Amino acid sequence: TTRRKTVKDIAAAKAGTPLVCLTAYDAPMAALLDPHADVLLVGDSLGMVVHGLPSTVGVTMEMMILHGQAVMRGSDQAMVVVDMPFGSYETNNDSAFLNAARIMKETGCQAIKIESGTYAAGQIAHLVERGVPVMGHIGLRPQAINVDGGFRAKGRTFGERDRVIAEARAADEAGAFAIVIEGVAEDLAAAITAEVSCPTIGIGASAACDGQILVTHDMLGLFDWTPKFVRRYADLSTSISDAVSAYAADVRARKFPGEAETYALRKPAPEQR
Ligand code: KIV
Ligand code: NA
Repeated sequence: TTRRKTVKDIAAAKAGTPLVCLTAYDAPMAALLDPHADVLLVGDSLGMVVHGLPSTVGVTMEMMILHGQAVMRGSDQAMVVVDMPFGSYETNNDSAFLNAARIMKETGCQAIKIESGTYAAGQIAHLVERGVPVMGHIGLRPQAINVDGGFRAKGRTFGERDRVIAEARAADEAGAFAIVIEGVAEDLAAAITAEVSCPTIGIGASAACDGQILVTHDMLGLFDWTPKFVRRYADLSTSISDAVSAYAADVRARKFPGEAETYALRKPAPEQR
């Protein structure tokens, strides 16, 4: 039995208390985030955040499954959503379903997310009808970086605005249980949130959304580079650098390990041979 949040719980948050969502890639971090989060997203951002790739385009099914399994092991109350990687759902409905089913079977996650251009309405409906809850992802779609020529906010021109609204409508009408809106101006996020029936989850998309998501490593200050929309709630990169530099100095000065961290020869008990 699971006490995890379900798609019903997430849908019920429409226009209610904002949904708290964070990315997670491994078991110990998932365990720290789980008590506070409604949704843990195993984002394909893991390609950049933990594997050092230049974009999310190189992320594979195997990477998503391995990290999805770890996050499931580390959590027990948040809904876990796993991103479908570039190339795993765009071709047609059948390959989208086979890959989504594989992710769900091998990780035990409750839902998948796809970067949903308007073309993807077919895939979303196909998956939902067959038992795969789908989270959409519109606006700035990182998997399209090679078409867009970089990561840029969307919907700041009228043409782009119409396109983002069309993406939102398509995902909502096709049955997405929630939609991530990335990198759009506040008025557009507000208009979409008012129009669609499912909750919207913003990243760089203002407080007008029904929930928020951040890349956990960004909000914990594990990178020097942080985009405008990130608030750093901690400065872990400084904490880690300070800790590692203290360790290195101690090792070089033979101050670590000390007596407390060292095993001594155990005297055998008298009756023991
Ligand atoms: O991959 C990711 O982390 C994401 C979120 C930032 C929405 O898609
Ligand atoms: Na993603």
